[in-house]
Amino acid sequence: MKKIKIVSALGFFALALFAVIGWSMGMNTDAPMSRGAMGGMTNDSRPNFSQLRHRYVMQNGLDKNYLNKISPLGKNADLKQAKSLYNQNCANCHGAGGKGDGVAGAALKPTPADIATFTKTHMATDGYLLWTISEGGLPIKSAMPSFKSILTEQQIWHIVAYIRNF
Ligand code: HEC
Repeated sequence: MKKIKIVSALGFFALALFAVIGWSMGMNTDAPMSRGAMGGMTNDSRPNFSQLRHRYVMQNGLDKNYLNKISPLGKNADLKQAKSLYNQNCANCHGAGGKGDGVAGAALKPTPADIATFTKTHMATDGYLLWTISEGGLPIKSAMPSFKSILTEQQIWHIVAYIRNF
């Protein structure tokens, strides 16, 4: 009788443990960081911004090499040249309209961000966009390539002007 009690107490303990583990794993799938993996608009209908990157910047501040950078182009960006640069380097992942729906992006975790919407927010400063495009996913270990050795800073500024105009 005593033995049975111990066995059932152990069984109960194991069940409780599994329940807690299962619960915490369930929590993780709802965590903001993994929301991006679902792609597009999520069921709470917030746009697919890069939660991972935003959290990184909130915790570490924006890289000092980029913080105060301002586009030298003003209104003089060559949007035609910028469009072809964007289509060559970004559209595969972010989609032709910047919605984060490019064919190569679908399988990535996190998925490419909706930059058409993001560039309309106050967080999308020139410095933030230059940093993101230059360093890519290096600081946060995402799949976004670093473009600082592929494009000149001038070319990146043209792309910044282009993605602000989606
Ligand atoms: C291989 C796929 C890929 C390519 C190519 C790519 N990106 Fe990304 N991009 C991502 C992913 C994935 C994220 C989300 C994770 C992150 O922030 O790095 C992202 C995030 C971003 C963000 C941050 C949005 C936010 O919410 O903060 C910007 C801006 C951006 N990309 C612009 C560009 C531009 C401009 C180009 C082309 C020069 C480009 N990306 C090329 C995959 C890509």
